Amino acid sequence: MGKGYKDIGVFLPVANGGWIISKNTPRLDGMYKQNLDAALIAEEEGLDFVMSMGKWRGFGGETNHWGTSMESVTMMAGIAQATNRVKIWATMHTLLHNPVVVAKMITTLDYISNGRAGLNVVAGAYRGEFAQMGEWDDAIGHDGRYALAEEWLTVIKRLWSEPRVDFQGKFFNISDCVSDPKPMSRPRPDIICAGMSPRGFEFSVRESDAVFIGGRSWDEIRDAAKRAREVAERMEKTIKIYCMLNVVCADSDAEAEKIVKHYQEGIDEGAVLGMMESWGIPKDKDTSMAARRIGAFMNQVAAGTPETCHEKMHQFIEHCDLDGLMLTFADYIQGLRAVGKGILPKLRKTYA
Ligand SMILES: Cc1cc2nc3c(=O)[nH]c(=O)nc-3n(C[C@H](O)[C@H](O)[C@H](O)COP(=O)(O)O)c2cc1C
Repeated sequence: MGKGYKDIGVFLPVANGGWIISKNTPRLDGMYKQNLDAALIAEEEGLDFVMSMGKWRGFGGETNHWGTSMESVTMMAGIAQATNRVKIWATMHTLLHNPVVVAKMITTLDYISNGRAGLNVVAGAYRGEFAQMGEWDDAIGHDGRYALAEEWLTVIKRLWSEPRVDFQGKFFNISDCVSDPKPMSRPRPDIICAGMSPRGFEFSVRESDAVFIGGRSWDEIRDAAKRAREVAERMEKTIKIYCMLNVVCADSDAEAEKIVKHYQEGIDEGAVLGMMESWGIPKDKDTSMAARRIGAFMNQVAAGTPETCHEKMHQFIEHCDLDGLMLTFADYIQGLRAVGKGILPKLRKTYA
């Protein structure tokens, strides 16, 4: 059995619909109140972190999935003020903000949260999100976006630790640049990344404290975790590896399975196709079948009673060799309460 404390966090529903693309889920509106309530319960129930993604354009479809969203950092500033203990991880796109601005934004978040801030760095993958604001340059390309991200993050890390920074790169020119105060977190705010391609992996493992990995099956996720650990070993560093998990808790396993089936049956095919398009998969005539193959759930699912969910979470962590989970729910209030009351105490004991 894997040893050590496992970090359990929540991926806040910062964009409408959350991580199930379905017409049959309870309404997640992507607005501040639902996010704040979820964060407050996560804190109360003893979770370790709350994170929000950065999202600028949704997938369309009947539900207009992810079409309504809050901006990550400003939202997390409100949540930081309202909480005392959970880590506060916000997302910034390297394509959108000058790193000097970001260094100070995250430092500010660090002071508001009293040293709980973290930065999820995303290089940007979905053309439509950035092309709509004139911030997409086809000439840069996928790996080039990681080269840009590397410069961007180097500037931020240096501004967090050095009195004055000079940096002449391909993408950024920083001269005699100052940024004070330094963050209060030591050695610095957490850095989190989720690149999955070989170049994204290399960047994420080298530059961050924790990486998120994904996959269509447990075996794919296990292989990705193994790959991340191998890259880390080559770099002679240790890294935490997390994965997302959707939890559907009910009074019986049969009831939970019924709920999962209901969500699956309500799949918003139009939005799933929009998501596939955002991944660069063009629409073709077989689209409806393709959407159904992908399904309504955007990540792995643990469904059942709290006992069953605990067992599945335990098995998932072990199978994939993970250091933590970031949970998502159809109903964050009900789900987080179920985790806090019925699952987390057992999980803490398992990994004491
Ligand atoms: C947990 C998690 C969080 C992510 N958060 C964001 C995000 O907030 N915004 C975004 O545009 N992409 C986000 N992504 C996508 C990744 O940044 C990345 O683009 C994707 O994993 C593909 O990897 P690649 O860029 O190496 O090809 C996230 C991915 C994961 C697994």
